[in-house]
Amino acid sequence: MQKPIQLAILASGNGTNAQQISEYFAQSNDVRVNVIVYNKRDAYVATRAQQLGIDAQYFNRHDFFETDNVLHFLQDRGVDYLILAGFLLLVPDNLLRAFPNRVVNIHPALLPNYGGKGMYGHHVHEAVIANHEQFSGITIHVVDNRYDCGTTLFQARCRIDANDSADDLAAKIHLLEKAYFPRVIEAFVLNRPMPVAEL
Ligand code: GAR
Repeated sequence: MQKPIQLAILASGNGTNAQQISEYFAQSNDVRVNVIVYNKRDAYVATRAQQLGIDAQYFNRHDFFETDNVLHFLQDRGVDYLILAGFLLLVPDNLLRAFPNRVVNIHPALLPNYGGKGMYGHHVHEAVIANHEQFSGITIHVVDNRYDCGTTLFQARCRIDANDSADDLAAKIHLLEKAYFPRVIEAFVLNRPMPVAEL
């Protein structure tokens, strides 16, 4: 039997996506969450990792951008793919070179709209609501060295009702993330057909 594909999840905050991905692959023979890497000392994702029994490792900005510490750590652990799940730093060039086409990000909007620097988490939902959009959604894409660019793998939409607040929209987006992000990762790394979005 082939060795399972090894994922490293990179996260900066709460870690709901990191948890959902870890739970999804817990029973898989083909894909394994090897480690969760985080870049904010007090990130709640570290607590989630502990509860899930998954190794977690903190690295600071210096480690990421001025050294090869993160790269060597990931290589030593035999990681194959990097999954950005609410990871708010640009991915450094040394990682992009070492993992070509093997870095995947989720963005909580329909890129190319509402992407770019500063557009993360709640900021995205507030901007979408302020513009009275009728739809938002998620974009899952391969990462290059710009914010929120790179080949799109998958998008799914949700409807925004007239009275929806940014919090309401965030809840809808989290449901989409839960429904699709783990399955899209699985399809991508195993070279299988992508799930089909409902809306
Ligand atoms: C998620 O909604 C993710 O799409 C978003 O941050 C949130 C992290 O939540 N990512 C971005 O905005 C990237 N530009 P989580 O920590 O609970 O998974």
